[in-house]
Amino acid sequence: MSDLPERDPLSIPWIVAAKGREKIAMLTVYDAPSARLLDEAGIEILLVGDSVEMTVYGEANTLSATMDQMVRHSRAVARATKRAVVIGDMPFLSYQADPARAVENAGRFLAEAGCAAVKVEGGRRILPAVQAILAADIPVMGHIGLTPQSLHKLGGFKVQGREEDSAREIREDAKALADAGCFAVVLECVPETLAAQITAEIPVPTLGIGAGPHCDGQVLVYHDVMGLTRDLRPKFVRRYADLTTVIRDAAGAFVSDVKSGNFPSKEESFTGARPTLRRVN
Ligand code: KIV
Repeated sequence: MSDLPERDPLSIPWIVAAKGREKIAMLTVYDAPSARLLDEAGIEILLVGDSVEMTVYGEANTLSATMDQMVRHSRAVARATKRAVVIGDMPFLSYQADPARAVENAGRFLAEAGCAAVKVEGGRRILPAVQAILAADIPVMGHIGLTPQSLHKLGGFKVQGREEDSAREIREDAKALADAGCFAVVLECVPETLAAQITAEIPVPTLGIGAGPHCDGQVLVYHDVMGLTRDLRPKFVRRYADLTTVIRDAAGAFVSDVKSGNFPSKEESFTGARPTLRRVN
């Protein structure tokens, strides 16, 4: 149990109202025990990102995430969360092809998993899906700039919006998403000046990842923050813990104890004595 006092659950209107008042802290998370800790620590938005494919399943990109898998992880996170707003990330091809299918898939995150909202990648080109999901009263978070589901079109995980034309496109996408009714927009890997401009231009919060300090909030990936990603360390990541060392040292200590016979001890073992049965009259 945490020592933190019980706090009221946060909501989508709280996120919208935070713009200009306080910065918003958001992390990805994929499982119940981690979600409980982040929630107790005060993280305000928990995103069950399709990055689970890379961080947990070891894939090279997010494209293989499925609806069933995302709903299952989202459910685990939502069950463990008392205060934060839990958002389910809609996987590749679950919303792009058909707005009706997009609504059904988005609805699963709320009905089956207990999320409060969904996140989709893309701007004006996915507006039909965004509008359909919003028309079903399902809150939508947008995501523009570097959109990992467009990896092959973009030619890799690269900073977006460096040229005037592409910056203008991203600004137009942000405005279109806000006008459609998205309650927040993730800006991934764009120059900080562009993020500042968009943040000033749209009435809903921007959540930056590799988008500089001027966004209304910041989002990072759990495994990066906790020091569980070893190979890749993007420039925008700040590591707050080194769980790689903690876990490797703990596992190493277990190996030594097993080999030396130091584990288990007498206290960690059962005796053969049966508990006494008491007669009940
Ligand atoms: O899936 C994810 O982790 C994300 C964040 C990078 C915003 O979409």
